[in-house]
Amino acid sequence: MDMVNGSEEHVNELLKAQAHVWNHMFSFIRSMSLKCAIDLGIPDIIHNHGKPITLTELVAALPTLNPTKACNIYQLMQILVHSGFFGRQKLGDGVEEDGYVLTDACRLLCNDNPLSVTPFLKPMLDPIIMQPCYFLGTWFQNDDQTSFVTAHGKMFWDCCSHDPRVNDSFNEGMASDARFVNRILMDKYKGAFEGLNSLVDVGGGTGTLGKAIADAFPHMECTVFDLPHVVAGLQDGGNLKYVAGDMFEGVPAADAVLLKWMLHVWNDDECLKILKRCKEAISTGEEKRGKVMIIDIVLMENDETQLFFDMVLMATVNGRERREEDWGKLFGAAGFSDYKITPILGIRSLIEVYP
Ligand SMILES: C[S@@+](CC[C@H](N)C(=O)[O-])C[C@H]1O[C@@H](n2cnc3c(N)ncnc32)[C@H](O)[C@@H]1O
Repeated sequence: MDMVNGSEEHVNELLKAQAHVWNHMFSFIRSMSLKCAIDLGIPDIIHNHGKPITLTELVAALPTLNPTKACNIYQLMQILVHSGFFGRQKLGDGVEEDGYVLTDACRLLCNDNPLSVTPFLKPMLDPIIMQPCYFLGTWFQNDDQTSFVTAHGKMFWDCCSHDPRVNDSFNEGMASDARFVNRILMDKYKGAFEGLNSLVDVGGGTGTLGKAIADAFPHMECTVFDLPHVVAGLQDGGNLKYVAGDMFEGVPAADAVLLKWMLHVWNDDECLKILKRCKEAISTGEEKRGKVMIIDIVLMENDETQLFFDMVLMATVNGRERREEDWGKLFGAAGFSDYKITPILGIRSLIEVYP
């Protein structure tokens, strides 16, 4: 294949191809620069400054910055302006320097934002989650169950149950996402919960979403069901209780079973088992016709963020995101008769599944 000797058009194609490869080769710079800004506390510093901040002011406000690296902060800010996390504003009044301001995406990274996504970003960009991606090529050629095993010698859930740092960081990340999802659900689709007398949040982590639902619907009996090391020591209160167990063995009975960010972690056979346990849980008692409420991605071909999630899941737990037809097949195989997809959560949807 001779791509060099050719017309000007071919040369341009060649250079475009090279730029495409180089752009992807260094794509990790986007996430690493973002992590760096958070490690340095830059979003909070600009937020607390209350007005556009000059580079000089920003450098002076970074408490732990080694002064010999002050000149490099400009480089960091440049890529983050390009990535859409900071904007530049003219300051006027004869001030030559522009000031940096936060974009909407960056406001979501500030610590005092109740909907902050930083607690989720931290575990996702921790070497423990990133290293398995480095070993994907090896994993495709060996017998390990996950690339995480190839990298760390054990499964992700084992790592969580034995390493409190990983467990806490992961659970805090999940809790922050639960706050975010709760806010959207209660704003846009509170009706999905109306009429339910009981709900069990399967794999509900430390109970952020379960508690928010219990507070919003005081008459509803809410149960947060998760592995023993996750719910250990958590206190029941009012209409909320914690139950430790394994969803593959059984799920507490309720009108509705919530599965938020659960099924994408498991393969189809495992999902089938979980869905069957959920169907049993909503079908006990007289005249019961409850529902399973799934919060997960319905995969579209061209959504890059959805495809990123798909790959992270593959690397970490050998999970996957699913297209609508994949979901439909799973629900049919588990004995459900109907489902409704409501795409109200950005790249994720609420899927209500009926027996
Ligand atoms: C991806 S997290 C989702 C947490 C929560 N639903 C959320 O979205 O914030 C998966 C959860 O499933 C729990 N889990 C894993 N295996 C489980 C099992 N066999 N039975 C019950 N929970 C399990 C994990 O401990 C973890 O809390």
